[in-house]
Amino acid sequence: MIKVDLSGISGFVPVDAVRFKEGRDIVKNLREGEAGLEGTGWLRLPEEMSGGLLGSLRDTASQISGESDVLVVIGTGGSYLGARAAIELLRSPYYNGMRKSTPDIFFCGNSLSAAHLSRIVALIGTRPFSILYISKSGSTLEPSVAFRIMRALLVAKVGEQEAKSRIYTITDARSGRLRAITDREGYISFEIPADVGGRYSVLSPVGLLPILCAGIDAEEILRGARDALGSAADEAALYAAARQALYQKGYKIELLASFEPFFRYMGEWWKQLFGESEGKCGRGIFPAYADYTADLHSLGQYVQEGERALMETFVLFEKSGVQLLVPPAPGFGDGLDPVSGKPLSALNEAAAEATKAAHIEGGVPVIAITAPDMTPYSFGALVMFFELACAVSAIMMQVNPFNQPGVEAYKTTLKARLGL
Ligand code: PA5
Repeated sequence: MIKVDLSGISGFVPVDAVRFKEGRDIVKNLREGEAGLEGTGWLRLPEEMSGGLLGSLRDTASQISGESDVLVVIGTGGSYLGARAAIELLRSPYYNGMRKSTPDIFFCGNSLSAAHLSRIVALIGTRPFSILYISKSGSTLEPSVAFRIMRALLVAKVGEQEAKSRIYTITDARSGRLRAITDREGYISFEIPADVGGRYSVLSPVGLLPILCAGIDAEEILRGARDALGSAADEAALYAAARQALYQKGYKIELLASFEPFFRYMGEWWKQLFGESEGKCGRGIFPAYADYTADLHSLGQYVQEGERALMETFVLFEKSGVQLLVPPAPGFGDGLDPVSGKPLSALNEAAAEATKAAHIEGGVPVIAITAPDMTPYSFGALVMFFELACAVSAIMMQVNPFNQPGVEAYKTTLKARLGL
């Protein structure tokens, strides 16, 4: 169950009952298909994906695991951030000491950096690999270039015919260059539903296939998202209403912060979700992410005493899932005797409480969102909670949450410069 605690903003703005009701009405309209907007297909994904399609995705993930030690996932923006967020949060090699029986997954196609791509090529080394190329439009420059390079490497290793059977794509059902290439070359392919935008696509094949390749229980993710559609709807409306109340008071930057380092890519996913959904028509809360406690030793000074335009949103977990105690070492002289024998999670909780109190004292309103744990179920619930809250918040500030005209401007200008 996702919970939103607004006690940390009560000294800054009233928690507005009218706005909360407006938020609930927007959720209802979205769920009933009466918001009058295109691009709401993400609301159906938890139900739709659980059927036969999940089975096909599972079979394809097994095929990839069977044939390759490495999977190169090519994509940018909404075509990779959700999958990467899930994998880093749930399946890091450091998380729970799990032994991996799945391929290593490397993400590329999200920059034009030669250094980055060369390192991935070096990391693949002599190991057998497969490619999963994800692009809704099928013509974004960064993934197109990465695909050229990775495909050439694969062909050089295994030959043209074998390469075709190790290349998988996810793109639009009918339109775009990648659809045409896929059909011509006969790659195994899945579709991005037409009414699901990139940043809302993590619960479609776009997110689920890499997630399954990493050995994560995708059914649980979908179950969490499905449940959250009901159980987290009011919380999402509350979070959206609080953000908007703060925005009206001049808090124009939202710093999402987590005390779990493996949440970092979830922060990147969240930045795209809110930045692209709200930032238009000269409006929008600027979304930024901080990795606490690490960033308390860098950004902490600014948050405490810098310009007062910041609101903070903490994402906390009730259970860390890992029991690690501070070992006793009496007389060792490091000043830690008062906490010896305590679980590290208690220290992390104390750090979150202390940070919240200090920042409120310094003039920063703090919203706290709590999820039960770092499991696939809670990941799915958090995804649905944030997607709902984002759509509601954007609609409250009268912008369309489901288009991104500004992103297209960059793509068109860059292509014109390169003569493409
Ligand atoms: O949300 C969006 O539309 C964008 O950020 C896209 O996700 C990103 O530009 C990648 O586009 P595509 O999947 O078409 O390659």
